Amino acid sequence: MKKLRIAWGITGAGHYLRESYAVMGELKKEGHSITTFVSRAGEEVSRMYGLFDDLKEISDGTYLNEIFLDSAQGASFPKIGRFNLKRYDLFVLTPATSNTVAKIVFGIADTLVTNCAAQAMKSDVPCLIVPVDQESDVVSELPYTLDRSRCESCAECPPKAACPGEAIQDHIDLLKCQGCGTCVDLCLHGAISGGDPVPLTIRQVDARNTRMLAEMEHVQVISRPKRLLETVRKM
Ligand SMILES: Cc1cc2nc3c(=O)[nH]c(=O)nc-3n(C[C@H](O)[C@H](O)[C@H](O)COP(=O)(O)O)c2cc1C
Repeated sequence: MKKLRIAWGITGAGHYLRESYAVMGELKKEGHSITTFVSRAGEEVSRMYGLFDDLKEISDGTYLNEIFLDSAQGASFPKIGRFNLKRYDLFVLTPATSNTVAKIVFGIADTLVTNCAAQAMKSDVPCLIVPVDQESDVVSELPYTLDRSRCESCAECPPKAACPGEAIQDHIDLLKCQGCGTCVDLCLHGAISGGDPVPLTIRQVDARNTRMLAEMEHVQVISRPKRLLETVRKM
């Protein structure tokens, strides 16, 4: 099997996020190099689900195995020039938010990840994309949440004291949450949970954008992250 130089885009979707990280790890173990390109929301949401640190094992910082964050790449995204220089064999984008899919199908390239897609296509690099919003409704996964109806506002709150991100007040500040889950078992009243299922209706506009995405040159839409494994293994 050919070892591929993969550029991997991550956007801010909770849905399929865990599965996307698992597939990334699997392909890394198979010997492919993986440079990750993370949108601002992708960075935040990855932290909320406690996955962000896993990136450092997948993309260890060596050449073609770096982590590029939108928040550190300026407005012109100079690293994207690597697509034009044919440094990557493949662009994988999963999870792809409805926001990012909409931008790609309408030719907008104003974020690190949408710019990756634009330059990959302009450089004839194949793109495998997993939009989170496809045809049928989905059951997604919530980050850590505090159920106020169960919270007893204890004078000494063990989850609050233990939280490494100081994210817990009378609610959980998700922008501070590091997704470690320490708080869940420490709450004496079972008021904190993470990973609860949340059903979501797919909007027609998002389903339509996904269909338009599938018609774009160089793009193959993949139904879910796990399916990337067989596709990449055949390349
Ligand atoms: C916890 C959390 C989970 C989210 N999950 C999704 C999701 O599954 N799908 C989606 O389209 N947007 C989701 N969003 C919203 C996106 O992060 C938001 O639209 C963002 O602007 C997308 O930017 P990006 O496409 O550049 O990553 C989520 C936001 C949060 C805070």
